[in-house]
Formats: sequence, C-alpha cells, structure tokens
Amino acid sequence: MAKHYYIETMGCQMNEYDSDRLSRMLEDSGYQRVGDPEKADFVLLNTCSVRAKAEQKALSRLGRLATLKKKNPRVLLAVAGCVAQQRGVDLLERFAGLDLVLGPREIGNFRVILEKVKEGGTRVAAIDARGKPVSFFGGFEYFKHTVKAFITIMEGCNNFCSYCIVPYVRGRETSRPPEELLDEAKNLILQGVKEITLLGQNVNSYAYGNTRFSGLLKSMNELEGLQRIRFTTSHPKDLSPELIQSFARLEKLCPHIHLPFQAGSNRVLKAMKRGYSREKYMELIDALRNARPGIAVTSDVMAGFPGETEEDFELTLDLIRQIEFDNLFSFKYSDREGTPAAKMEGKIPEAQKLARLDRLQELQRKITLKKNRELIGRSLEVLVEGTSKKGQGLTGRTATNKVVNFINDKRYISKLINVTIKRASFNSLWGELTSEET
Ligand code: 5AD
Ligand code: SF4
Repeated sequence: MAKHYYIETMGCQMNEYDSDRLSRMLEDSGYQRVGDPEKADFVLLNTCSVRAKAEQKALSRLGRLATLKKKNPRVLLAVAGCVAQQRGVDLLERFAGLDLVLGPREIGNFRVILEKVKEGGTRVAAIDARGKPVSFFGGFEYFKHTVKAFITIMEGCNNFCSYCIVPYVRGRETSRPPEELLDEAKNLILQGVKEITLLGQNVNSYAYGNTRFSGLLKSMNELEGLQRIRFTTSHPKDLSPELIQSFARLEKLCPHIHLPFQAGSNRVLKAMKRGYSREKYMELIDALRNARPGIAVTSDVMAGFPGETEEDFELTLDLIRQIEFDNLFSFKYSDREGTPAAKMEGKIPEAQKLARLDRLQELQRKITLKKNRELIGRSLEVLVEGTSKKGQGLTGRTATNKVVNFINDKRYISKLINVTIKRASFNSLWGELTSEET
C-alpha cells in the first residue's frame, strides 16, 4: 500500500525551496502527498525562527501535530528548518512523539536519514552540519507545471547584524557551483518554468571560484526560454556597482529589488551593525533608479529596536517618505536569544513598539496605494500564473512584482501578456487584456 506524507512550510522562500526538495525525496522513496496530516504516515513541519512569534507558532503547531501519535503510533513526525537547527535535541526531549529533527544543511542527506528513521528505534537529530557545504542533488523535477520556481544559490550569512538569529541557525555563507545552478535552471526551463528567483540570505555575497553574483546573473540571462529573473535578498552594504549596472544591462532581470533598510537613523543602523548609513542607502536607491528607471523598490524595516528614540523613529518615517517604497515588510523588534541586541539596554515597551509599527504601516499604506493608482490606464506586461483565488479570473505579476487580476480564458496561463490597469487597491491591481501574447 502506498505511503503518504504531509508537509507544512512556515517562513521564507528558502524554506519553500527546501520543502520542495524534501517532498521530491519523499516521493522518490514511494510516498504520495496528502493535504491532511491525519491521513499521513510521515508528517513534516518546516519551521522559521527569525522572530519570536514565528518560533512560538512553530512550537505550538508541533505540539498539535505531536498529538497525531496518540491516534496512530506508527506515524513518523519530523521537524526541519531554523527552529530545528536552533533548538536541536531539546525538541526531542520536549516532544515525546518527535522522530526527527533535521537542520537546513542536512537536507541533502535526507534520503539516508529517512531510512534510519524508518528502521525505528533511534530518534535522529541531524543538526551538526552548520559548517558543511550545502549538499544538493541532481534531477530537480519537482516544480513541474509551475510558471515560477526558486533556486537557492547560497546559504548562510556572515554579517551578524546585532538583532539577527540567521547566522547562528543557517551558518556561514556557502555558495553553490555556477554550473550546478545553470543546470538546475535549464532543467526547470525544460519543464516550462518561465521565471526563476535566485535565493540566498545575502545573494550579493555569492562567490564561487571566480564567479560573482553579477556574473551568475549574466549567465542566467543568456538561458534560452527563460523570460524573467529575480533575486532576493540583497544587503545594501554589498550592493556592488556591477550589480546595479546589471539592472541596466540584463533584459530578463526584472525591474524590482528587495533591499532591506531596517532603520532610518544612523545611530540605530550602527547599533544594528548594518554597515551603511541612511545617506548611503539613499544613494544606492538613486543609482538603481538611474540604472533602471521605474524599478520597484521594496524593503524590510523594524520598529522599536533597543534604544530607539522618538527622534530615531521619525528618521525611519522620513526615509520611507523620501524613498516611497512600492511595498514594505515591517516588524516589531523581537529579542532573539543569543544575539547581541537581546542583551542591549533601552528595550522599548511592547505597546510603544506596536504604536510605532502602526504609524509606519499607515504611512506605507498611503504610499503603496498612491503608487498603485498611478498605474491606472497603463498597459503592463504580466506573466500569467493561474486562476485567481477569488472569482473566475486569472492572476499574474508585473515585472515590478505587483499582483494583477483580470478576466480571460485559461489559454493565457504561463504566457506573458499585456494588461491595461483599470483599478488599483493596496494589495493588487485589476485590469483588462491589452493585446495578444508578446
Ligand atoms: N526582530 C524583528 N524583526 C527581525 N528581522 C530579523 N530579525 C528580527 C528581529 N530580531 C526582520 C528583518 C529582516 C526580516 C527577514 O526579518 O527586517 O530583514
Ligand atoms: Fe540577518 Fe543581517 Fe544576515 Fe540579513 S544580513 S540574515 S538581517 S544577519
């Protein structure tokens, strides 16, 4: 009888990519995917620990999933991702039903580890691999029938921003060989993928032999059949002039950059150990906008870092007003055990953090809405991804990564088409077809 697996993914796109690799390996081992954990023989939770809230969510979900064991003692329960790496064997102690704790760098060895777990007896905690290079495998057929795919090009981070847990859980920066990445991309293209997003905690630091990130982008740009390239995330400190020029030179590189700024005050940026000033950040945005007029800029920002004064926070609001981001991901600062910021003085009370976050989000809402409304009447190129969640329409994204919904028949799925924007809200745009496939 076929065995079944259930997988649930929390957190970032790198986790989504990892979950796909894990799913593929499970399917190669004879498992079929199910959407209900109660019907599964193998249950896997891929977790995130970047903020305290994400970690709590992962632990409470794990607690619920562990109860499945009471109904069916034969079900295997595994936890992967950053919480697995960070909490390690503690998780095996805390959750009696847990069979496997799998760190992000052990995913390449999952097949072997799975066999050991299936043999039973031992509860393996595969978390000792932070210093190891990322181990990948050939094939990569899992993204079948989708228009968009991810490729993780590097893992880890060497920056040690003072608030961030990532360097402790994802380890040091390790890049994958360019030939392997190009092969993976070619495979995806053969399966019908039109858009590839290159992933890494800090893609600008990609380095393998003589190949730097801008070189890798250039090679990707030459791949026949690929229509769009994106990447995330970049660090302002490492955004090189060559990379900025890539936006002018490479026609497949989408006019969108996600460039986290975190704070608008130089004093706070210094305490965060970010390695750039607000002036430098604004210069980078100017250079990007000169290289590729109309480039969309999105960012991450935090409210309530330890010691953040009202004046510091005003500087964050001021930077948001001056840059006018297309979209902003904003977070309340949260203490992460083991990071320098967790030990800093001047912690901001929760209510004040929340009030600042609200002010910031209110400001950004107006900016996003204004920018989206400016697009009304324009004809934009949209890569059609599928049917929209609501209604019978289709959905896709502009090159600037904005969601566009429109009504039409399904023959446009996975095609690039032009859509004239008719209405705009905070979250998405709504339009009508302008012309046939480009
Ligand atoms: N508290 C709040 N937000 C954080 N981020 C990272 N660490 C923390 C923390 N300790 C945010 C940053 C980062 C995004 C992925 O998560 O803004 O860019
Ligand atoms: Fe964390 Fe800073 Fe590395 Fe980003 S660059 S993952 S914020 S340490």
